Amino acid sequence: MKTNPHYQELKREYIFPIIERKLEELKAKNLARAVINLGIGDVALPLAPSIVSAICKAVEEMGQTTKGYAPSEGYLFLRQAIADNEFAHVAIGPEEIFISDGANSDAANIQELFSVHCTVGITDPTYPVYLDTNIMAGRGDKIISIPCTEANRFVPQPPEVHCDFVYLCSPNNPTGVAMTRDDMKMWVDWAKKTGAVLLYDNAYEAFISSPDVPKTIFEIDGAKEVAVEFRSFSKSAGFTGLRCAYTILPKGPLHALWTRRQSTKSNGVAYPIQRGAEAVFSLQGRKETRAQVATYLAQAHTLREGLLQLGYTCAGGVDAPYIWWKTPGGLTSWEFFDRLLTECNLISIPGKGFGPHGEGYVRLSTFTTAEHAQEALRRIKDL
Ligand SMILES: Cc1ncc(COP(=O)(O)O)c(C=O)c1O
Repeated sequence: MKTNPHYQELKREYIFPIIERKLEELKAKNLARAVINLGIGDVALPLAPSIVSAICKAVEEMGQTTKGYAPSEGYLFLRQAIADNEFAHVAIGPEEIFISDGANSDAANIQELFSVHCTVGITDPTYPVYLDTNIMAGRGDKIISIPCTEANRFVPQPPEVHCDFVYLCSPNNPTGVAMTRDDMKMWVDWAKKTGAVLLYDNAYEAFISSPDVPKTIFEIDGAKEVAVEFRSFSKSAGFTGLRCAYTILPKGPLHALWTRRQSTKSNGVAYPIQRGAEAVFSLQGRKETRAQVATYLAQAHTLREGLLQLGYTCAGGVDAPYIWWKTPGGLTSWEFFDRLLTECNLISIPGKGFGPHGEGYVRLSTFTTAEHAQEALRRIKDL
């Protein structure tokens, strides 16, 4: 059987099964206290009531009238709500917004629009999807690594060599650091000068609280000529289990190709889910989902300040639900992960799982309750 040989090039350590195994081993020892999970970046609160009610209403409607397939680009009611609520200030219209089942799928699929010979800029550490999908597509030897380290405050810098397209994620997973307006302008100017395309993952936009961090890359002059932006309802409104996201492609060559791709490969996102997403923009929906985000940010603040007070070094946790914690005493990320697990019964993610420059860090997710965040700090104090 001639399978895709590029899958064999996926060398990155797949960390989740290893973490799962270590956790099972620990639980078999009959722990006196519960394990606190600050590992996986999944939401910790139930769906907001206004979203539940919009989804139920839409399902009932489907029991009365036939809906059938959704448009591959998404229903206009949702694209219009997004344009009006999120992009009016940068003049992005509904025809430039494409609804999907996840920013994960869109970030994974976008590379199909480019030649297999393109060079690809990917930050290190990175959200793994960008790297793996390009390896699967046969660009494993065309990756340009863009290190994000303490030396550059975890802000990626444009590379010296040419890249045809670059993935930028801000607020960043895993470092939790957000690019400022100046940082983003530097990238847009570089892309315009070199002819590169910026694939900007803004899945954590709802967590931006610093005034010098733009809410969309399209606030930067010239960005419409060079950038694509990914957004998601997953973390902003608790949709990880519902699946709804959107991608903004300003009119141009990529817009035409994505329209063609989606009309061939997608039969749309379920109607009730799109009605649920629309409810996020209602007065009540806004209030409820903003309160959820504020809860996660409060935990980020508690953990970040707590770690700093204990004398640890960490980044992130201001505009993102992640904290990038430097391991003490030069421990490797797996060594520190093991200590946190066995001594504090706390799950983190070893930074090395996000790339070689993640070595020497662990990522803490702040999708947790106040009680768990405070208990985690109490345990860390005794480390
Ligand atoms: C940076 C980033 N992009 C995209 C996603 C996936 O979003 P979705 O749930 O919409 O597929 C995640 C999820 O953790 C993420 O961290």
